[in-house]
Amino acid sequence: MEELLRVKKTPNEVIKKRPFNIDLVKKDFPILDIKVNGKPLVYLDNAATTQKPEIVIESIKHYYTHENANVHRGLHFLSEAATSAFENARMKVKEFLNAMSTSEIIFVKGATEAINLIANTMCRAGWIKAGDEIIISHMEHHANIVPWQLMCKRNGAKLRVIPIDDNGELILDDFENMFSEKTKMVSVVHASNSLGTINDVETITNIAHKYDVPVLLDGSQAVAHFPIDVQKLNCDFYVFSGHKIFGPTGIGVLYGRTKYLNELPPYQGGGDMIRKVTFEETTFEDLPNKFEAGTPNIVGGIGLAVALKYLNSFDYKDLLKHEEELLKYATEKLLEVEGLKIIGTAKHKVSVCSFIIDGIHPYDIGTIIDTEGVAIRTGHHCTQPIMQRYNLPATARASFSFYNSKEDVDVLVNALNKVKKLFG
Ligand SMILES: Cc1ncc(COP(=O)(O)O)c(C=O)c1O
Repeated sequence: MEELLRVKKTPNEVIKKRPFNIDLVKKDFPILDIKVNGKPLVYLDNAATTQKPEIVIESIKHYYTHENANVHRGLHFLSEAATSAFENARMKVKEFLNAMSTSEIIFVKGATEAINLIANTMCRAGWIKAGDEIIISHMEHHANIVPWQLMCKRNGAKLRVIPIDDNGELILDDFENMFSEKTKMVSVVHASNSLGTINDVETITNIAHKYDVPVLLDGSQAVAHFPIDVQKLNCDFYVFSGHKIFGPTGIGVLYGRTKYLNELPPYQGGGDMIRKVTFEETTFEDLPNKFEAGTPNIVGGIGLAVALKYLNSFDYKDLLKHEEELLKYATEKLLEVEGLKIIGTAKHKVSVCSFIIDGIHPYDIGTIIDTEGVAIRTGHHCTQPIMQRYNLPATARASFSFYNSKEDVDVLVNALNKVKKLFG
């Protein structure tokens, strides 16, 4: 594990793959060992945020103990150490996404900031004007609705929405008919946080590109579940948050195609993003610095890179197989609970199960099973239009990660049966 701790300057470094063993994996995450309400924690709220392996926690301590300084500014030893660790972290993210270059990797606060950055700068660049249209889908997180809506309010553009069917799959039959000379952007989620649906983003991108329309993919719920290759996906922008993939909060990534990032204006102004400043005029740094005004979240970037290295220490095939089996097992076991209905039954899903139980409010479900040490999410999951589509106030959602086991599912199902008994 020691080899994972440092973010070294070793592009495409090969880490010896570890065999997947769920008991050993659980031990990598110290928080999974705690008790909640006197019961061992069963953490099933991974779509909200993932837990952090010890190696990530250690990397943060290591940075503040041995390398802390500001980046890109000083010539002293520590500043160079911090800059090198931060820029090597960018290299790790580039490798993780299979981007062409590190200049395509912009560090931001998270997926929300990345989408706001694109919506705002596109608007300021005049790419989207009054009467133009942006296509999103009915299953977007609020983070991929509100920034576009704010932009539309400001400049008179319009949102078009790809509908979803009862299984929670996008209805793409009419997607191509939505395009006209007014269409300026497509922004869709790769995997839905409340339904689990994995969207056919290759088809979406191919159609959009036929009309020369750029595509942003919100990968927040995809990155922790399967490998991402932005060149294969052929998307123009890809965004995700570090905390959804075993890294720290407050750090995220905007991948963008160089030709677009070069054309877009800076999002914010300040230090680190300039070449020359006078009172009359400012010239800006090249990518990626142009979009990173001010002191960045240095330790966040480093922690994220260590999280990616940790993930890369396993064979993805093992993780995929484990999560697929877990989803299948959880779906079967949940459906054995009387009156339980799963919301989101798409053919291709990440390991997310949203559900309702006849006659019991999701909030009651969440509160009661918390007393059994089980952490799930209840509410609208920042996807109110999905709740409106299914005519529901809320759902309960169990979302899994590769550190969850079938035993965790059993504890959840037992806790749900206790809820059922309590409500008669
Ligand atoms: C699909 C999706 N997009 C965007 C976000 C926003 O992420 P953040 O709050 O980390 O910016 C989330 C968070 O739950 C999400 O699930």
